[in-house]
Formats: sequence, C-alpha cells, structure tokens
Amino acid sequence: MKPIIAPSILAADFANLQAQIEMLNQSSADWIHCDIMDGRFVPNISFGLPVLEAVHKHARKPLDVHLMIMEPQLYIEQFKKAGASNITVHYEACTHLHRVIEQIKAVDCKAGVALNPHTPVALLTDIIQDIDVVCVMSVNPGFGGQKFIQHTYAKVAELRQLIDSRNAHALIEIDGGVNEETGPLLLAQGADVLVAGSFVFQATDPPQTIQNLKNLHS
Ligand code: DX5
Ligand code: ZN
Repeated sequence: MKPIIAPSILAADFANLQAQIEMLNQSSADWIHCDIMDGRFVPNISFGLPVLEAVHKHARKPLDVHLMIMEPQLYIEQFKKAGASNITVHYEACTHLHRVIEQIKAVDCKAGVALNPHTPVALLTDIIQDIDVVCVMSVNPGFGGQKFIQHTYAKVAELRQLIDSRNAHALIEIDGGVNEETGPLLLAQGADVLVAGSFVFQATDPPQTIQNLKNLHS
C-alpha cells in the first residue's frame, strides 16, 4: 500500500500561503499537516485558528491538525469549526486522554495522539483501540528542520506490533526529519503516514518531491 503523505505547512512561505495551498491541492499530497504551537507546550509559537480557517478556505485536502498546545480539550470545537479533519493532541498534554479522544470523535474528526520522543509506546496499550492516528514524533516538537532521532525505527516497530496484536485500526504517522532516506526505513517498520515539512518546501520541485515520497515503499 502506498503511504499517506502529509506535507507540513510549517515550512511553507507564509506570505504566499494561498499559492502554497494551491500547489498542495494539485500535488499527490493526501493530507495537509498544520502545526499549532502555543509557546507553552513547546518553546515556539506558530499560527492559530484564523490562519487555519484561511487555509481551509483554499484547501481541497483534509487538514491534519497537530496541536502542540496545553489543555487541548478547551479548543477541540474551535479547531473543528476552523476546518480540521484530523485533530491530534499530545499524550503529554492530556490528563484525561480518553475523554479528549471522545471529544474529538464527537465533532466528527479523526482522533490522533502524538508521542514525544521520550514517551513509551506501551503507555497507549489501554487506549490504542480508540485512536485513529498515532503520531510518533521523530524530533522534539516545536521546530521544523531538525535531526531525525534514530530510536524512532524501533518505536514504530513496537507500535505496529501493539496495533496488530489488538486488531486496532490506528494509522502510524511519523513527524519530523522525514525524507527519501528515512521514509523507506519507516515504512519498513510499519508506518502509514509520512509528514514532511522542510524536505518538501525547501526542495526545488515540491510537487515532484511529494510524488517521490508517495512512490516510496518499504
Ligand atoms: C515539529 C512539527 C513538524 C514539522 C516537521 O514540531 O510537528 O510537523 O513541521 O518538520 P520537518 O519535516 O522539517 O522535520
Ligand atoms: Zn507536526
């Protein structure tokens, strides 16, 4: 099966966002990954609801919204209204993760849970069957263009095993440092979704780069 490709607009030219969204519309990208940072959960601030709404007006692909924010449970409805199809919250930001997942599903979005590099896969054991997407962070969240953490491969393999052993349906998404070298190795461990920011937007030919990622297999 071909991977799902989710370019991250964190690395896009924000002064020409409409053109960048049009490029993604015409490319073989499957989802548009939108990184929301609050300057509290992560040491950076990206963009918020009004920008997401503007992106949604032009996007013809589902918006995969990655919330790197504290207390995400307070904003689920607003992100749905702003156009999110998938809403991913961080395991580390949710005291009542099960409740937040229910909240996301109640607004008809796919529910994602992201794991920081230090957070063990085993912590999802009792909730894996309720999750639609597990986002494995292969860098520390907060910035694009960081070095890929090698331990991610083992983590993806462990997650694949957990999902399969429980007959769960969660997709495995990898976020950070994805390129044509790390991509095939991640797919070989059982990844389903590749997020790529700088690799796509800093390429000389972004649509071709997206196509190259789409053609990757393990
Ligand atoms: C990092 C973000 C990523 C980021 C990935 O906190 O969650 O989505 O855009 O950027 P690259 O692909 O450049 O590592
Ligand atoms: Zn992200």
